[in-house]
Amino acid sequence: MKAPPAWQIRILDTQIMSAPRQRSPSRRPSWIIILVSLVCLSLIGAYIFPPENYPACYFFASSVCNPFMDWLPPAPVREFTDEEIAATAVFANLLLLPPIQVTSPKIAFLFLTPGTLPFERLWEKFFQGHEGRFSIYVHASREKPVHVSPLFMNRDIRSDKVGWGQISMVDAEKRLLANAIQDADNQHFVLLSDSCVPLQNFDFVYRYLMETNISFIDCFDDPGPHGTGRYSENMLPEIEKKDWRKGSQWFTMKRQHALIVLADNLYYAKFKLHCQPGADGRNCYADEHYLPTLFNMVDPHGIANWSVTHVDWSEGKWHPKAYRDQDATYDLFKNITSIEENIHVTSDDKRIVRESPCMWNGMKKPCYLFARKFYPEALDNLMRVFSSYTNV
Ligand SMILES: *[C@@H]1O[C@H](CO)[C@@H](O)[C@H](O)[C@H]1NC(C)=O
Ligand SMILES: *[C@@H]1O[C@H](CO)[C@@H](O)[C@H](O)[C@H]1NC(C)=O
Ligand SMILES: *[C@@H]1O[C@H](CO)[C@@H](O)[C@H](O)[C@H]1NC(C)=O
Repeated sequence: MKAPPAWQIRILDTQIMSAPRQRSPSRRPSWIIILVSLVCLSLIGAYIFPPENYPACYFFASSVCNPFMDWLPPAPVREFTDEEIAATAVFANLLLLPPIQVTSPKIAFLFLTPGTLPFERLWEKFFQGHEGRFSIYVHASREKPVHVSPLFMNRDIRSDKVGWGQISMVDAEKRLLANAIQDADNQHFVLLSDSCVPLQNFDFVYRYLMETNISFIDCFDDPGPHGTGRYSENMLPEIEKKDWRKGSQWFTMKRQHALIVLADNLYYAKFKLHCQPGADGRNCYADEHYLPTLFNMVDPHGIANWSVTHVDWSEGKWHPKAYRDQDATYDLFKNITSIEENIHVTSDDKRIVRESPCMWNGMKKPCYLFARKFYPEALDNLMRVFSSYTNV
């Protein structure tokens, strides 16, 4: 940002000062033309060169200088690539699509597990009596699961290995979505792990997810080392540091958002290349950043910014608290389901705690429908507690 070149001001000054001396009728028209041209020239100069240091600003109140600021050209807009233009148009159109009208709208429950699901019997209790309103998909990344509930039989999808914090985790999530989206009845998609349990009965969960237009995708701006610290400038120009977000991977999303995830190759490719443990000299975990960053860029108002799956990080360790048999109590369920504020803590030294009410269609509601992580040994207690807590 520069001041107008000195010669411009100097010429203008001399011209004004010398003007009275040139008062002869025959010369007047050309004098006016020259003066007008010079004024125009200096105005063009003031337009091209921001007038931060324009001499007049030293003499007038800032309000006098502000009109100058309004003439400034906007900050140069980056030229988008072909892929960005195409992606932006596709995403915008997907968001405008009205929901498909189906006779029996279902929620797809997507289980991401290494092998056998320890809580199948509990989930069976949760699903029983609601046939036609849900569908189940199981992605077992390590070994073929042994199913004990008929609801889960033949629900395994073709799977692949999943590495902790690697893009293969996102690939598995996309694989589950791609399978579940084949069924047009599936209107909402819930990602769950083998250590997740339901906290509410099916009707409550169904209404909570289906009677709103938002996806429950966790998303917050963490300026610390575990947030923006994981951003790589190799993601430029498409993903800027200001777009970078973090959040738990356990999402629920509406059909349009699932389509966007499946349609996106542009941003996904950036994460695949530049968000890996150890990539570009930093540890980046795609499953904690890809969806929050994508939806922050594509549809920030369409996501709730919190996850409906509760997890307890209060011990401040690398892994969240895992509940044992004796922890699975009625009081625990009551405590978790009575929470109506979601909390995010920044990972910098300030450890800023951001608390926001869980707003559902404009009303404050319990934040959580599911919880993790429970040890398999907790199954029997969980069955008892779930029945008494939800009257199922
Ligand atoms: C969701 O969106 C549809 C269509 O845009 C609208 O008709 C409906 O009222 C919305 N539902 C809620 C709960 O906001
Ligand atoms: C989620 O956060 C974004 C800002 O990051 C905000 O614009 C949006 O309204 C929030 N979503 C809801 C449902 O409040
Ligand atoms: C439930 O919350 C109460 C009050 O905060 C606390 O005293 C109690 O220890 C909690 N119980 C469980 C099982 O988390």
